[in-house]
Amino acid sequence: MSEYELIALALEAKRNAYSPYSGFQVGAALLCADGRVFTGCNVENSSYSLTTCAERVALFSAVAQGARKFSAIAVVTDSEQPVFPCGACRQALAEFSPNMKVIAVGPKGVQTVVLEQLLPYPFARAHVVGSCEHGI
Ligand code: THU
Repeated sequence: MSEYELIALALEAKRNAYSPYSGFQVGAALLCADGRVFTGCNVENSSYSLTTCAERVALFSAVAQGARKFSAIAVVTDSEQPVFPCGACRQALAEFSPNMKVIAVGPKGVQTVVLEQLLPYPFARAHVVGSCEHGI
């Protein structure tokens, strides 16, 4: 899967964005280490705080299908400045693959970073005392 193809899938996912409140559409495509791709869009709610970002929709869909290692995520918006995942999504993604590539795509171009650059000191499983024997 090329970067271009991943971006194309994120662009397609953006079409399903449910964003009647912000009007801001986001599409994400998450590439797994095994080659599978899971997509997501933002899903807003009249109870605003229940809104879920496109990145976490893609991530949770992937995890629900057994994927836990990711190599890249493409995030597409119509924003002039390419949009990187919000803080909550950075933390959620870092749980699984802190070294994944994050590809932010807007109408004016593409910007790529490593997730670690966006969230240098993530809260991690190792911090949760006694958790390592459970729920792995
Ligand atoms: N949003 C995302 O889906 N991903 C981001 O990285 C930033 C924000 C969504 C949430 C909400 O539906 C809309 O964008 C405006 O905040």
